[in-house]
Amino acid sequence: MTDEASRAGPWTATVLTLFPEMLPGMLGHSLAGKALAEGRWALEAVDIRAFARDRHGTVDDSPYGGGAGMVMRPDVVSDAIAAHHDPAGGRRLIYPSPRGRVFTQAMARDWADRPGVTLVCGRYEGLDQRVIDAWVEKAAMEEVSLGDFVLSGGEPAAVVMLDAAVRLLPGVMGTADSLNEESFERGLLEYPLYTRPPVWDGRGVPEVLISGHHGRVAAWRRAQAEAITKARRPDLWARYEKEQT
Ligand code: ADE
Repeated sequence: MTDEASRAGPWTATVLTLFPEMLPGMLGHSLAGKALAEGRWALEAVDIRAFARDRHGTVDDSPYGGGAGMVMRPDVVSDAIAAHHDPAGGRRLIYPSPRGRVFTQAMARDWADRPGVTLVCGRYEGLDQRVIDAWVEKAAMEEVSLGDFVLSGGEPAAVVMLDAAVRLLPGVMGTADSLNEESFERGLLEYPLYTRPPVWDGRGVPEVLISGHHGRVAAWRRAQAEAITKARRPDLWARYEKEQT
C-alpha cells in the first residue's frame, strides 16, 4: 500500500439510517465480520434522527396530497447526507429503493474499487422526492434495487449489497472464492459442485471430477455452466453469447 492509500484509511461503508442498531447485522459475522474486526474495512452507521430539527426528533410527516404512511423529511435527510458524504470523495452515493436500477455484480465490483460507499436507507413510504433530486444533482446519487419486491426499509437491502461489495475487498475472502467469482463475472451461472462422500444416498459423483485431468474438468465445468445458464436465465445467456462473438 502507498503512503497516500494508508493515510486514507480502510474502505468505508457509511449507512444513514433511522435504525443504526440494525448494523452491522450479518456483516458482523463470518468472513466480513472477521475482516471488519481486523480493520480491513470500516462501517459507520449514522443515526438520521440526530439531524432532526425539533426536540421530539421528528424525521417524517404525512404525504402532501394524502395517502397512507409517512414520508421522510427532505431537510433532515439532506443534513445527514451533507454531514457524512463528500461529493468529491470518489464514493458512490446510493439510495436503496425498488424504483432503482437492479443491483449487479458489476456494481458491487465498482463500489469495491472505490474508497467506500454511502447508503441512505429509507423507511416508511420513502424519501421526499426533493432530497433525491437534490442529491442526484449534487453527488450523482443513484437509486438501486435488489429486485421486484418491496422490503420494509432500505437496511436489509443495504446489508445485502454491502455483503457483495465487501467480499471483493483485498484480504476479505482470501483466494477460496475466486473461482466462483470468475464464473459469475464471465456472465455464467455456477457449475455444480461435489464433495465427499463419493456415493451418497445412492448418488455418485460425475466421473470426470475424479479423473484428475484438469483440462477435462475445466471443459466439463464450462459446459455445465453454459447449459445451466441457457436453461435458467435466457437473459444472461443471450448477453453471454453476444460477448463471445
Ligand atoms: N427498499 C425497499 N424495497 C427495496 C428493494 N426491493 N430493493 C432495494 N431497496 C428497497
